[in-house]
Amino acid sequence: MTRIFSGVKPTGHLTLGNYLGAVRRWVEVDQHRADALFSVVDLHALTVEHDPARVRRLTRQAATLLLAAGLDPGRCTVFVQSHVDEHARLSYLLECTATDGELRRMIQYKEKAAPARAGGRGVRVSLLTYPVLMAADILAYGTDEVPVGDDQVQHVELTRDLAVRFNQRYGHTFTVPRATRPPVAARVMDLQDPTGKMGKSHENGAGIVYLLDEPDVVRRKVMRAVTDSGQEVEYDREAKPGVANLLDVLAACGGGDPEVLAGAYPSYGALKKDVAEAVVEVLRPLRERHAELVTDPGYVDAVLREGAERARGIARPVVDRAYRAVGLLPPG
Ligand code: TYM
Repeated sequence: MTRIFSGVKPTGHLTLGNYLGAVRRWVEVDQHRADALFSVVDLHALTVEHDPARVRRLTRQAATLLLAAGLDPGRCTVFVQSHVDEHARLSYLLECTATDGELRRMIQYKEKAAPARAGGRGVRVSLLTYPVLMAADILAYGTDEVPVGDDQVQHVELTRDLAVRFNQRYGHTFTVPRATRPPVAARVMDLQDPTGKMGKSHENGAGIVYLLDEPDVVRRKVMRAVTDSGQEVEYDREAKPGVANLLDVLAACGGGDPEVLAGAYPSYGALKKDVAEAVVEVLRPLRERHAELVTDPGYVDAVLREGAERARGIARPVVDRAYRAVGLLPPG
């Protein structure tokens, strides 16, 4: 059976980008057709400046949201990364496989290291090795497919390279995974700056729709979205990135093709109105289910405990095999 692994990082509240680019597909497709594992990757949240209490809170919130979105613990495995030691264990072996040059070339490293350096805070070594830990997440489970948004594809490519290199050096150990992307909304853009990704850790939340935003907040953010010069609704990502982004979101939420949808709108205002309502409707059941689940933290804890146990059972033999393959003496 196909094995799927993916994850979400608790560095901020989950966004519409996370949902349309990744989580919704996990819920609607992936958990039904494969042996799928989904993780709140809390170790990854320590790669940039973080507040311990906030990371803990966001980890629980992210797990609750994944369940609220419809991940069914009867069908898939939901767990917290730090509850399974194998991620960190394997990450070290992959650090011994990767080169610093290939890590320095990662786009996300360049994007995140520059502001940290400029702010005088220094760059955590773990920011550089971030994709190695991500590779460990994926390879520890013999993963075939990694459903992600566009911004993570480069990291999955690196994961493939590391798996192939490791297998060539030490004998076949890892399955070589591949990234899968959603047909639309693989890259949802910030509503205030449609040339940049809608990311959860942005300073200013005006261009970001969070999954738990109240309907009126969602409407306000969408109605204030930056659009482009001219008045005609056209799907042109280069010339009209703001309008194209709204059409992508509409297509992802309500169905249809963004180019065809463009023809149906006489003005930007009419388009924004429909986008706002479509997003509110997509998020409504998720918010309602989340409100129920937060009243039952014991349930979420139990899901995470069982998820970690199952995940450990899969990862342990794979990582043990990798330890033996590189020449480490097994404990007697
Ligand atoms: P993260 O937490 O940034 O995002 C989680 C998922 O959401 C997708 N995504 C988006 N898709 C479309 N438009 C957007 N604006 C948008 N923003 C985020 C991401 O592509 C991702 O699929 N490094 C990963 C977490 C991770 C992981 C893994 C993922 C760690 N280990 C192993 C897959 C497999 C990250 O930071 O995702």
